[in-house]
Formats: sequence, C-alpha cells, structure tokens
Amino acid sequence: MSPEKPALRAVDSPSETTTHEAQAAAEDARVGWEQFQQLIEEDQRVEPRDWMPQNYRKTLVRQISQHAHSEIIGMQPEGNWISRAPSLKRKSVLMAKVQDEAGHGLYLYSAAETLGTSRDEMYQQLYTGKAKYSSIFNYPARTWADVGAVGWLVDGAAITNQVPLCRASFGPYGRAMVRVCKEESFHQRQGWEILYTLSHGTEAQKQMAQDAVDRFYGPALQMFGPPDDESPNSQQSMAWNIKRFSNDVLRQRFVDMIVPQAEALGLTLPDPDLKWNEERGHYDYGDLDWDEFFSVVKGNGPLNHQRLAHYRAARDDGAWVREAAAAYAAKQAEASPRSALLSA
Ligand SMILES: [Fe+2]
Ligand SMILES: [Fe+2]
Repeated sequence: MSPEKPALRAVDSPSETTTHEAQAAAEDARVGWEQFQQLIEEDQRVEPRDWMPQNYRKTLVRQISQHAHSEIIGMQPEGNWISRAPSLKRKSVLMAKVQDEAGHGLYLYSAAETLGTSRDEMYQQLYTGKAKYSSIFNYPARTWADVGAVGWLVDGAAITNQVPLCRASFGPYGRAMVRVCKEESFHQRQGWEILYTLSHGTEAQKQMAQDAVDRFYGPALQMFGPPDDESPNSQQSMAWNIKRFSNDVLRQRFVDMIVPQAEALGLTLPDPDLKWNEERGHYDYGDLDWDEFFSVVKGNGPLNHQRLAHYRAARDDGAWVREAAAAYAAKQAEASPRSALLSA
C-alpha cells in the first residue's frame, strides 16, 4: 500500500484564518485517506467524489487515457480494410467493429475526465505525441487475414487484460470495462471466424492465415507488457486493486487460451518452445523479442509515424465540424437557455 499520507499544507504567510483553513484541509485529507484505505481494503469502489491519493489519480489518468488512445489509434489498421473486405457482410461487420472501438475510446475518455483531466488535454497529448498507446497498433494489417489475426489475437489479448479490469477499484473505469469486454468478445469471435474460413479455404488462403498468425503472435503476447521483474509500477497498481493479476500471469492465461483455439483453426503458433507442461498445468512458451518491443514503444515501429500523422490529419480536418457544433450549441443556448440545459 502507498505510504503516501496527506501532510499539513504549507502556507506562505500564515494568518489566523489561513492556519485554520490549512488545519481543516489537513483534517479533511486525513479522514479522506482513511476512507480511501478502507475502500481498498474492503475491495469496494472508489468514486470520483471520494478523496484519493494524488498518485492513485495520476496512475489512473495515465492508464485510462492510454487505453482510450489505444482504442482510437486501433481503429486505423482495420478501418483501412473496410472498403476492401471481401463481401458486403464482411464490410458491415468490420465497420461495426471499428465503430465499437471508437465507442470504447469515448467511454474511456469520459471515465478519465471524472478524475479532473479534460478531454481536450488528453486529445492534445495524443496529438503532440506525448501520450503513449498500445504499440501493437504500430504494426500494419497487410492482408485480409491480418484483420482476422488482429481480431483473434489482439482483441483476444485485450479481453484477457480487460476482464479483470471490470473489477478495478475506480468505479467509472470498472463500469466502462464491463461494456467494452462484451463488445471485445464479439470482436475476438469475428477474427477467429475470418481465420477459420481462410484456413479451411484454398491452400493459398490457408497460407495467408498462417502468415498473419506468424506476424501477430509475438506482438500480441507483448501486449501484456514487460515481464514482471521489469514492470515496477505493477505492484502498486495491484495494491490499489486497479490491476488484479501480473503481466506474466495474464500472458500465461492468454497462451493457455489460444493454443487449443489455434488447433481448432488448423494453424500453428510460431513458437518451437510451446509445449504443455504437465507439472505446471500450463503451456510453456519461448522468450519474446523484448528489444523489438522497446524499440516500437520508443517510436521506431513500422508505422508509428504514419499512425500519428493520420490521427493529426483527421483531427485537423474535423476542426470545422467541432467549431460549427460549438457555435450551434452556443446559439441554441442563447435562443433558449432551457432547451440548451435539457440537451446538455
Ligand atoms: Fe476496443
Ligand atoms: Fe476490439
């Protein structure tokens, strides 16, 4: 648990009033801290109105906004395939999926806003490249089979990561995750079904499915983050009941889930060290290329520049729509303050 305890706030020129105010603020913070500790110990929800340590708030804003950015940037690899999906049905399913990801981004920005960081500030952090998002989205979706691999492996890894977040201690985050996970589970199934169709098609189609799995398997396993001994922030997040399981535990859970699914697809996972370990009751898997992972995180992935450039162009192109909507809302408020209140 964090040793962070509220200290008495220093005042520049203490008069009787300011000293009294500072003492009252310190007392409020002390009571708030105790209530926070109790909520965490009893595994209850912390709500935006509750007192919370600064580091808890900061950690959540960073995690939730990075998650939101990942949903928004994650629309790009598949959005690029909507017009090229092989049938009208495939197009409409993919369009619904990409729209879901936009919705996930919006729920998450809303959850982060309740912590006192404005949406514009978060957008700006993504726009300027200051904010991070999941590095998996810096890889291209080269073929239609890649769209299947993204659904099966990337959305699959996301679900494994996010189901425990439904119980995150911060209420708005946990509640957003419940809805997100329902949709992610549909996403994973549609990806699996694309790969199943290809792997039961012609030899060339099966090879295309295998190539896609070969490309996305390693980066999908890296979505859980670095190994536990190189992930110093995880422990604090677990003590705060934000994160429920460590990176390696979740990665193992994912591997155990996808091995039988790959067998059902008739595809091979590209890891010669992958085998059932009777003693552990889990699949062993080989080392991942962490040099590549950190290089992509630092901005040197195949598409880091393109993803951000595309986001900036879309944001710039849409500026007139936001301005027009704001001007319209202001006019409505002027003409009818009551209707503006009702629609707010
Ligand atoms: Fe999503
Ligand atoms: Fe998804």
